[in-house]
Amino acid sequence: MTTSSRMPGFYNKILSERLQAIVEQSGLSQEEAAAFSTNGLNPEGADHMIENVVGLYSLPIGIATNFRVNNKEVLIPMVIEEPSVVAGASLAARLAREGGGFTASSDEPVMIAQMQILDVANPHQARLALLAQKQRLLEFAATTDPVIMKLGGGPREVEVRILEDGQVVVHLLYDCRDAMGANTVNTAAEALKPMVEEITGGRVNLRILSNLADHRLARSTAVIPAGALAFDDFNGEFVRDRIIEAYAFAAADPYRATTHNKGIMNGVDAVVIATGNDWRAIEAGAHAYAARSGKYTSLSQWGTDRAGNLIGTLEMPMAVGIVGGATKVHPSARAALKIMGIQSARELAEIIVSVGLAQNFAAIRALATEGIQRGHMSLHARQLAMAAGASGDEIERIASQMVTEKQVRLDRAQALAEEIKSYIPKDRSYD
Ligand code: MEV
Repeated sequence: MTTSSRMPGFYNKILSERLQAIVEQSGLSQEEAAAFSTNGLNPEGADHMIENVVGLYSLPIGIATNFRVNNKEVLIPMVIEEPSVVAGASLAARLAREGGGFTASSDEPVMIAQMQILDVANPHQARLALLAQKQRLLEFAATTDPVIMKLGGGPREVEVRILEDGQVVVHLLYDCRDAMGANTVNTAAEALKPMVEEITGGRVNLRILSNLADHRLARSTAVIPAGALAFDDFNGEFVRDRIIEAYAFAAADPYRATTHNKGIMNGVDAVVIATGNDWRAIEAGAHAYAARSGKYTSLSQWGTDRAGNLIGTLEMPMAVGIVGGATKVHPSARAALKIMGIQSARELAEIIVSVGLAQNFAAIRALATEGIQRGHMSLHARQLAMAAGASGDEIERIASQMVTEKQVRLDRAQALAEEIKSYIPKDRSYD
């Protein structure tokens, strides 16, 4: 169990020492930790997951530090190819700690299974017939997954909608407990087809879950004291107010909201992928939820409280599981869940939405103050350093030097590659 997610100097260790520090903090066995050095999944395992497998494809996994969610210290495994994301999350979490960390909550893990009913004589009559037989539908749906029932899940409600063109749609709400639940709800919806056709006299076409999982929302709040926001020449109130202005842009404009929400998803997806969950499902649900009013807008909100603290909130669908699918099959996903000490799908959802909020903060803080080009230039500089023949630590040293000098060019990278002598520190403002 992680006693503290504050790990100053973590970045400064070499890779194997970082992994060892995580092993010590999280109680991973050496065998579990080995998943990160060996890809976790082997080709034989992969061959059972999808079709026509030819091998594996790797991405970096990093650990975001400093997170405190619902008074619990938590280290965050993040799988992502983009630089600055893990550092951004760690910085945001460090500042949020000053207001007590993230406070998160979530709905019961209820998914929606949809059934499309066509060719009914009268949609309103069909709807009422279905509602009159709700109990029978629920009782039958409860027979389709005895395992989930035993764990306390099962069908909860039947809703019937009539679409503008007269199609009738049943929503079966199903508590999936610690599973993401796609198989469970799809099975239930398929099994209900004959009963729904008998009740409505219509024809059931599609039976499939909805990724707009708006009965399975997770939400998180961060309180960041204005004083904690000061850095370089920027005072805390200035940074707070610029962040709120940045939010206003996303709230008002779908073009900006898309990018703002992409920043949230940088954090969300990285943890969703690390834990073997379906990131396409989460992406689809997030953007549909962002457009639920009919206008696409920001998923998060930023403002102040009476004390002048910066307050961030984020609420979004979060259909993730900790049993079933890749979460259990993939050794790295199992190790990632253990690093976080996750006990339930809801706890995972609450942590993920907190990471999304943290990531959003880090992005708009940078955009509203120094800009993100500094970070981007350092990526470009690293690429030039590699092109100049640098390897290992040299890449970072040459890149940092060029950024500091504001001379990010191939000829400078080549000159520095010849003369790497002095130590050049990285930007570690999050540590
Ligand atoms: C880049 O991956 C994410 C940002 O564009 C998010 C944002 O603009 O808020 C920096």
